[in-house]
Amino acid sequence: MSDGVKASVRYRTANEGIAILRDTIIFALRLYTMDKRKEGRYSRIYEQLKGLLIKTSNPEARMATICAVLHHKMDDFFWTGFYCLTEGQLIVRTYQGPVACQVLAKDTGVCWAAINQGKTMIVPDVEKFPGHIACDSRSKSEIVVPLCDKNKKIVGVLDVDSDKYETFDEMDALWLGKIVDLIYERS
Ligand code: SME
Repeated sequence: MSDGVKASVRYRTANEGIAILRDTIIFALRLYTMDKRKEGRYSRIYEQLKGLLIKTSNPEARMATICAVLHHKMDDFFWTGFYCLTEGQLIVRTYQGPVACQVLAKDTGVCWAAINQGKTMIVPDVEKFPGHIACDSRSKSEIVVPLCDKNKKIVGVLDVDSDKYETFDEMDALWLGKIVDLIYERS
C-alpha cells in the first residue's frame, strides 16, 4: 500500500471515529434530557398528589385520585390501575384505560410476581414475561409496584401498561413507589 493510500485510510478511519463519537454524545444528551423531563414531571405530580390526598385518608379515594392524575399526566400510560388482594384473590379496583381482567389467575403473571417476590417488576416486553396475563393485546410493556398498608403488609399493586416497548425504567420504579406510599400515609 502506498503512503498516499495509507494516509487516506487513516483519514477515513479518523472521520468515522469522530462521527461515531458525535452520534454517541447526541444520543446520551437526548436520553439525559428525556430523563430530566420525566423526573420533573414526576416531581410535580408528587407534589400535586400530596396536596390532593390530604382531603381524606380513605385508601380507595386516594387510589382513584392517583390513577386519574398519573393516567392523564404521564406519557404512554395506556392502562393505569390497582389490583388488591381480597380473600387470596387479586381483584381489580379503580383504573383508567381499556376494560381489564377483573380477577388475575393465582400466582400467574406480572402482578402476582410483584406480590410474591415483594418487589417492583419492570417488564420491557410483556411477551417475554413467562405467564404474563394479557388483558389487552395492545399492551407492550408494564411496571407493577407493590402496595403496602400501614403495617408494611402487601395488600395489592399499582399496575401500569404501555402500548410501547421498554417504556419503564428505574426512575418510574422510584417515583411510582413514592406515590404508592402516599396511599396509607397519615394525612
Ligand atoms: N398484565 C398483568 C395483568 C393485568 S393487566 O395488565 C391490566 C399481569 O400479567 O399480571
